[in-house]
Amino acid sequence: MSISANTVSLEKIIALCKRRGFVYQAAEIYGGLNGVYDFGPLGAAMKANIRAAWTKALKQSGKDVVFFEGAILGPEAEWEASGHLEGFHDPMVDCTNCKHRFRADHIDLAKSCPDCGLKAWTSVRNFNLMFKTAVGATAESTSHAYLRPETAQAIFVNFKNIMTSSRSKIPFGIAQIGKAFRNEITPRQFLFRTREFEQMELEYFCQGAHALQDLEFWLEQRKQFYNNLQIDMTKIRFREHASDELAHYSSRCLDVEYEFPFGWKELEGIAYRGDYDLSRHTKFSGKDLAVFDEESKQSFMPHVVECSVGVDRLFFTLLFDAYREEILDGETRVVLKLAPEIAPVKAAILPLQKQLNSQAELLYKQLSLNTDYNLDLDNSGSIGKRYRRQDEIGTPLCITYDFESEADQTVTVRNRDTMVQTRVKISELKNILDQALRKN
Ligand code: GAP
Repeated sequence: MSISANTVSLEKIIALCKRRGFVYQAAEIYGGLNGVYDFGPLGAAMKANIRAAWTKALKQSGKDVVFFEGAILGPEAEWEASGHLEGFHDPMVDCTNCKHRFRADHIDLAKSCPDCGLKAWTSVRNFNLMFKTAVGATAESTSHAYLRPETAQAIFVNFKNIMTSSRSKIPFGIAQIGKAFRNEITPRQFLFRTREFEQMELEYFCQGAHALQDLEFWLEQRKQFYNNLQIDMTKIRFREHASDELAHYSSRCLDVEYEFPFGWKELEGIAYRGDYDLSRHTKFSGKDLAVFDEESKQSFMPHVVECSVGVDRLFFTLLFDAYREEILDGETRVVLKLAPEIAPVKAAILPLQKQLNSQAELLYKQLSLNTDYNLDLDNSGSIGKRYRRQDEIGTPLCITYDFESEADQTVTVRNRDTMVQTRVKISELKNILDQALRKN
């Protein structure tokens, strides 16, 4: 076997996602909606695994973290307080010749339009990225609301409710997974920059004096998280923001970046937000969000350390990182070397011949009942083709049921990465799966 180097490309990932049902263009039969995607069965299963891995990492961090689900719609006042109405925009420029629109900071305005070759730019304007909508049935009762551009604000707005009802004490974290929406001027690179996406955000509330220490703690935790996902850590780096790059709420920020074929790009943002958010919401709502400290008998405004990563962006990163092409007997084997925890299908049951379909189906049903693994029963095409199909979606194990299985109640288990096949007893399959998939 030989391994081809540098074989992954954006085009290959897009084609694989569509072919195997990871991701589809949203509303494709109507021509699609730019920057919006639907997730097929494998994509949905893989996203669920990503959410579970993130949640598990927080639960095992040793810190107090509670989980929360806020609303997607928020009133105008909330976004005024958060600073998003005023500050959440990108610079936009149009080509007056071909009418194409660009982010002004993504192109060189001294040059001609990359699409039509003429130099006919409009002036640069700021474009707010929030989606605005109207709430209410009649013109008189209608008020404006916005689809949240980050999940974090609902956490800040509910900070007091959550702290009181969960009897939490500073320091503690509030974590949330949910959709966010940004009217990106130029959605780019497939899932990398979309208009509808999902975020996993942790807001860690602490004393201002401890905040930078807490930031270091979470940096280390997040590094561990990526390592546990078996990402190639030589392609991960932590990049400190320069002062002119900082978001309106942040006084120190690091990006976790991944090296894609199109360059180093942000995967996660880790930010010290200070007491910006709670102070702003206190000021704008008139409700005091400060906390009373029993020891010092004084009120203080908690500070916040934030870790924010996109589910879709991590999904996209993991596909790039796992993608391999290997040459086997002159043929190319595409294999996704995903961590078993992330693989959408954990094991596939393959009857060697048609005559064995019903026995294999029985085994599939028994294993599905005895485990909570997402299993696949694949009985169409040659066994070689079926192995390739499973390799391509990252299934760690293939279990082949053959004529000997009938006689001695054994099956062959094939490992995705080594392709080594081992004969095992059916009665031991559950243990073998648990071990291989590292589940205790
Ligand atoms: N609450 C902080 C915040 O929203 P951000 O850096 O704007 O910070 C955090 O976003 C993460 O959300 C990013 O690192 C990325 O993983 C994801 N993300 C942001 N915009 C995205 C988009 N348009 N499409 C996909 N993912 C996005």
